Amino acid sequence: MCLLNMDTVWTKKDLLGLEDLSREEIEHILNTVDSFKEVSTREIKKVPALRGKTVVNMFYEPSTRTRVSFEIAAKRLSADVINITSETSSVRKGETLIDTGRNIEALKVDIIVMRHNYSGAANMLASHLRASVVNAGDGWHEHPTQALLDIFTLKEKLGQIKGLHVSIIGDIAHSRVARSNIWGLTKLGAKVIVCAPKLLIPAGIEEMGAEVTDDIDKALHNADAINVLRMQFERDEKAAFPTQLEYFKAFGITEERLEKAKKDIVIMHPGPINRGVEMSSEVADGANSVILEQVTNGIAVRMAVLFLVAQANESISKDAR
Ligand code: CP
Repeated sequence: MCLLNMDTVWTKKDLLGLEDLSREEIEHILNTVDSFKEVSTREIKKVPALRGKTVVNMFYEPSTRTRVSFEIAAKRLSADVINITSETSSVRKGETLIDTGRNIEALKVDIIVMRHNYSGAANMLASHLRASVVNAGDGWHEHPTQALLDIFTLKEKLGQIKGLHVSIIGDIAHSRVARSNIWGLTKLGAKVIVCAPKLLIPAGIEEMGAEVTDDIDKALHNADAINVLRMQFERDEKAAFPTQLEYFKAFGITEERLEKAKKDIVIMHPGPINRGVEMSSEVADGANSVILEQVTNGIAVRMAVLFLVAQANESISKDAR
């Protein structure tokens, strides 16, 4: 595993979103992921890259994949890891996010990985701390490591991102995954189409570089890959579509619908899946699905991100001395 010269392109102490990153920075993260992927295939799945560092996972919203994946990634880098949730922290007693962050920093923590329902929470915290902050999903804003693992998986399957035609289907309006994917994919030269019921397409999405349609057949036509998003019926989706069954009939990905798509179309979903709403079980578990490969790749992606921000922060601290 070669980790030399990793600090020449990456100089940021935080990872807050893909909007802030250049094409070169995104490619640098993806190249670093290549270096870490092999670690998880070893009998002893550990390298000493973050030995002596402490990572706190602060998750103020539910998560299965992202939280576990960050914890595994940090442990495979030999960091010490602590998990806190809003239920078990002093946030419940009225402490502000900034005060919580400053107190965690006073405990000599090196990296805070945070999921929060407030769009902009990670940026706000990062601007107040010397410790690194990694955004694990903030409101409807960004989920950068999810997009990076989606893009890494696509690159593994299809060789390169430039020139690919990727359709993102589902609730675009409330989706931080959609936003981060649009920034990342377009910067790397992919053509991105977003497809959703009209009320779930937010204003300004075309300015981000995506084409927009509410025609599912158009979104599937010629697509090399689709990224299917969860319908968040627990939020205000009912205003956009009356029932889950009606959504499935109009936008759900089925084997029948895929007959008109490319034979080798790559099917992604960030999870959690609502089977029979966004896609049928046959599609979710079918030969074109890479959903579990996305989850596996999440570990190497998060190892790369934790490593890069820690290395950049060390270099910033040295320069400040
Ligand atoms: N994809 C994703 O963010 O899943 P979790 O909510 O389970 O972390």
